Formats: sequence, C-alpha cells, structure tokens
Amino acid sequence: MTKKDAYRFRKTFQIGDVEGAEEQNPTDNRTFADILNARISRRDTMKGGLGVAAVGFLSPIVNTGCGNDSDGSIPDEVQTELGFTAIPADISPAVTLPAGYRATVLFAYGDPINESTPEFRNDGTDDPDSYQFRSGTGHDGMFYFPLPEFDSRNSDRGLLCINHENIFIQRALHEERTEFDEESQTTFFTGGPSVEADGNRPVGEVTRELFAHGVSVIEVERDENGDFQVVRGSSFNRRIHANTEMELAGPVRGSELTRTVFSPDGTRTRGTLNNCANGYTAWGTYLTCEENWHGYFRTDEEERPRSKSRYGVDSTSNYRWETAGSEGIYRRFETTPSGASATEDYRNEANTYGWIVEIDPYDPNSTPVKRTTMGRFRHEGCWPSPAIPGQRLAFYSGDDAINEYIYKFVTAEEYQRGATGLDASLLDSGTLYVARFNDDGTGEWLELSMSNPALASEFSDMADLLVNTRAAADLLGATPMDRPEWGAVNPANGEVYMTLTNNSTRVAGNPEEGQTAVDPANPRAYDSDDDGDPNGNRNGHIIRWREDNDDVAATSFTWDIFLFGSRAGNRPENLSNLDESNAFASPDGLFFDVRTNRGVCWIQTDDSSLRDFTDNQMLAALPGVVGDGSAVTSDQGQSTFVGAELSPDQLKRFLTGPTGCEITGVDVTPDGTAMFINVQHPGGEGNRELSNNWPLQGGLATDTPNAVGNLARPRPATIVITRIDGGVIGA
Ligand code: FEO
Ligand code: CA
Repeated sequence: MTKKDAYRFRKTFQIGDVEGAEEQNPTDNRTFADILNARISRRDTMKGGLGVAAVGFLSPIVNTGCGNDSDGSIPDEVQTELGFTAIPADISPAVTLPAGYRATVLFAYGDPINESTPEFRNDGTDDPDSYQFRSGTGHDGMFYFPLPEFDSRNSDRGLLCINHENIFIQRALHEERTEFDEESQTTFFTGGPSVEADGNRPVGEVTRELFAHGVSVIEVERDENGDFQVVRGSSFNRRIHANTEMELAGPVRGSELTRTVFSPDGTRTRGTLNNCANGYTAWGTYLTCEENWHGYFRTDEEERPRSKSRYGVDSTSNYRWETAGSEGIYRRFETTPSGASATEDYRNEANTYGWIVEIDPYDPNSTPVKRTTMGRFRHEGCWPSPAIPGQRLAFYSGDDAINEYIYKFVTAEEYQRGATGLDASLLDSGTLYVARFNDDGTGEWLELSMSNPALASEFSDMADLLVNTRAAADLLGATPMDRPEWGAVNPANGEVYMTLTNNSTRVAGNPEEGQTAVDPANPRAYDSDDDGDPNGNRNGHIIRWREDNDDVAATSFTWDIFLFGSRAGNRPENLSNLDESNAFASPDGLFFDVRTNRGVCWIQTDDSSLRDFTDNQMLAALPGVVGDGSAVTSDQGQSTFVGAELSPDQLKRFLTGPTGCEITGVDVTPDGTAMFINVQHPGGEGNRELSNNWPLQGGLATDTPNAVGNLARPRPATIVITRIDGGVIGA
C-alpha cells in the first residue's frame, strides 16, 4: 500500500451539508405505481381545498416536566412578534448579530476543564493524555441543566452538556497529505494526522483523537458582568469520550449480537462517537446521539451481516484507529472476525454503536447508558414531547442519511414528576415506530416490534430487530426522506418539526438508477445553484406534523411543510417566498424553547449551496400550525402541502457565523436571557486553505500566541449570546 493509499480516509467526511451524503438504502419504498396513484388521488384532495384535515388550536400544553412551575407562576408568553431587526446576509470571519446583542466565547476546543490541566497551546505540542481533560472538538448539540437541581430554574448557574461530533479540522490532511512532512505536522490538529513507516497510526495522535470526541459536562456561572464563565474547578466537570465505559440497556443488553472480547456477556461497551444532536428528559438527564458512527469501523468480510452493510460499515475506517496498537481500545475498530467466536474478537463492536446514550450530568460518577429500545441507526438527535404527568412520552428521531427514515419512540409508562437520574429513566421499555408520509397529507407510525407479523418472521428476537432497525423499517415501507436532521417539538401545541437538509438523488420525473423520485413530503428537485444541472433537493425543507387527537402515542398524524429553503426571489423552487432578509438553505439545527414556551422556532443552517450569498446562519420564526396553509403543485407537477406563508416580520435572520462554519446546537437559560450556540468547524471544513482563524480576531492573524507558521488554528466553540439591555433573546 502506498502512502497515498494509506490516506484514502474516504468515508463519511462530514463536510458541510454533504454529511451523510452516501446512500445505503437499497429499497424502493416508493414505487412508480404509488406515485401515479397518488397523482390521481391528489385531484380529489385538491377539490377539498386545504387538503389537510382541519386542525383546531389546542390550549397550550403546560410543560410541567421541563421547567414551567407546576403552580403556573411562570406564565407562557407566546410571542406575536420578533423583537429585533433582521440582519443582512454576511460573509466574514465574524459572528454577526442584530443591534443590541452581543456574543462572548465560553468554551473552545482544547480549553481545560480542571485546574491541573495547562492552558491549550493549540500548536501541536499539547500532551495527548491531557485531552481527556480538555474540551473536545466539533461542538454540536447542547443542553443547559440548572444547578443545584433540574427544576430549580436557575439562570445564573448550571451544567452545560456539549456534544463533540467530529474532528473536522483534522480532515484536510487525510486527503491532501501523501507523506509525513514537517509542514503538515505543524499546520493542524496536534501534529497530525500521520502514518508511521509501517502504515500504522501513531498512538499519540489517536489518543488525542479519541479524547476529542464525545461529550463535555461543564459547570457555567454568570460573573459580575453578567457574562457566563466556565467554573474550571467544578466537581461536576467531566469528559465522556471514545474510551468511556458504558452500559447497554434494553433488549439488546446481553444479546449474542453485542458480545465481544471486552464484554463477553454483551452488556457493556466503551465510548460514544459522532455525537451530533441531543435530547433531554424530564427526569434531568442528557441524551446524546450517535450519528455517523459507522465510519469509524472497518471489516474485510466479503459477506457483511446486514447490521454492517445496511449502515455502511465497510473496508475503510475514517481514521484507521485500529492500526494504532494491539490494545482493545484500538483493535475494536477492526470488526473482521478473527477469533473462534465473538467473545474472542470485535466482530460485534459496531453493534454497540448507533444508539441514544443517556447521561446523568448531576452525577459525575454515573455510567452512561445506551438505550437500545430506541433503535439503532444514524441518530441525528432525540426530541421529547412535552412531559405531562400521567401521560406517556414520545421521543422523535431522524436517521441522517439520504433516503432514510423518521422514527418515534413511545414510552410504555406514563411520566410522573419526582424521581430523577438514570434510575428514573423510562427509556428501556416502549414502542418504536417508523414514519410513512402519505400523499394526502396524513401519515402513519408503523410499529417496529415482534408483534408485527411482517417482522416476526424476519428477525430472531427484539434484539436482532433493534440492531437491524433500518432493515426492519425497510420491510414496513417507511418513507425515504431528504436526510432528516434536527427535530423540535412546539411546546405550545405538541406539533413536531424536523429539518430535511437536502438530498442530491431527488429527481422530478422518472428516476434512473441512483435517483429518487420526488413525492409530496420530499417534493423538490431543482437547479437551485443555477449551474445548469438539476441537482436534487439542494436547499432542503422543514416538515412538521401533528399527532391525531394530540395523542403522543397515536399511530397516525397530519403533516405539511413548514418552510422550504431557497435563494430569494422569483424562482420556481421558492415555495415559501423567501426574500433577501430570510433566505436560507439546508436547515439543520432546530429549536423551540420549552422552558419559556415563547413559540419561537429557531432554525440553524449547515449549507453550502448559498455560500456565495451568506455564511451559515440562524433564523427565528413565528410558526402557525399544521394545516394553516394550502395544497400546492410545483411547476414540476409535484403536489405538496405548504404551511401558511410567513412574512419577513415572521421569519428573520438573527445570526451569521464565521465563514466556513456550521451553526449547530442551541439552548437558553430558563429566564430566556442567555442563549448558548455552537460554532462548528469555523474557518473551513477540511480544506487546507482556511478562510479565517475564528475566534481569534482579524482573520489570518500571525502575531497571536496560537499562531503556527502563518496560520492560527481556528477552534470550534460554544458562544453565549445576550442582549445588552439584559432582556429575553428574540423578544
Ligand atoms: Fe451531524 Fe446530520 O448532522
Ligand atoms: Ca449537522
């Protein structure tokens, strides 16, 4: 193998909005006959006017589980206007905000979380072992837990849980470097990546990379100026990373599919990887979600089991950690069977990934738990329905890859106020469903269980089904979607929103090999970048649905499309009539503030199709309800259902990030006066030509302590946004 071959780290580079771009779905879950039939029935639907069953307003659901005082002393204040002036599109190395707002950097990649770890030099010389006590990189999903307890509503002191998705800034070298050289050694992340003469990865580099993944739990507190600071010596501070021991819970625990040399009884594993978005529970725990975990493992198996093939585990691994040494923490990424049985090798290691992981941030000694009942796929995130005592809870989750599905998990038990922590978890027993979006604006939740005859004959038991969640969903005819990213539940009415960021395979008309026909829920395929080629759904959209009878356990729902991303102006794909003040594309992060229930829907982007127009951004919207718009037919002849059009006063650009970044992850303090946002891969996402060195000022600074050669390395970071007058963000 040449050195160049050794650098073919090709898979799943999560670069900008092409993350998840390769497709593994072999099914044709939407046949051409379906489409024809659908077009016929559409005419009937259109005759009925809206085409969506009339949905009445609900009285707001008081979210007693997640902060609103049960005595009602904190009123819901649903906003009727957005109290800031939309900012213009911007391409610059800075974070831009409306007048009256400011941002400070709270927690950047490499920052120490305790007193004994030295400041980050960011020059490639930081001790590899020190990374287990530093901020990871690739900041992503996030949640603020008040101190001293979850229900305290303390807005001045709390715990931030922050996902560290991926080691983006390292990736450039994977593709461009063909041999070890001094220049590369000093350009990026900690003196790497490199391979040694024998083709193996150096232990020091891999150590840093393993620790740079996972989750940070940090205590934060407002100082005398009202600015949040990290409490560096806090006993709550903790790093959970790719080597942290975890328990498996639910039906997969103890299954023969998770037995390894590390855990012969199949009950434990090490680490969590590619933690993208997140969730939280009403019992005060954090949910971190394993997204593109498949890319870390490899196998030489010619006949891969579907637990590998259906997810994209193949003969390459992103970082080749399996080459760093003979210890299990490295060897586990090689999943080719080598022993006489599964307990002698790591053939099953990848089966211990792809789950939702529950963490108790209030107990720094607790062991994270992988909740297998919630299914195994590329979990973007996990968004709960409002917690109402005496009712069950739903958790919504998307599988972020081209033509993958949307899922719902419904707890078996009702939520009750009181107990907190991992022992109070309701996530081990319940029912998992996958969504089918019908062409008439209704939808169905299809049950993924052994009581479903279509699945009982295909899987040996529930553990087998859950490890192969995608394959089970295939069999039920779930609807392939345009890459489900974040979801959010509107606490005012329980409606669920989910971003569908893009899908390069969509095509209007008859699909050819490798293409996917548009459908009502994924209705666009346009030449949205004006290059002369229709290139799928490049700009993405946001779908939303309402459970029938407002019952989170319902098996049917009504949907429409809240917003379509687009360039501004008179374009056929601009179905939401966006203008220069709110044009966006590839929606990704999505957020309703459940603590103040102000009804504002925040939208974050991870886009490359509008980069000649603006850097990635965050917008605020005042949404209506499912069914408040109309049935429309695009100029391509595709019918769909679009929500009521938002005026520029109801959809405004709030923030733009530094060039090259993605804006992702958001939470606010319970009083709404501080908003935490993550800036991921600032300066670039794998290009050696970095556009800036944010958060340092001045672009390509050469005279800073962090400068290396002529380039100071950019650092992903959590920022805090406040209003100069101390008011509520967005109000
Ligand atoms: Fe990690 Fe799908 O965003
Ligand atoms: Ca993302």
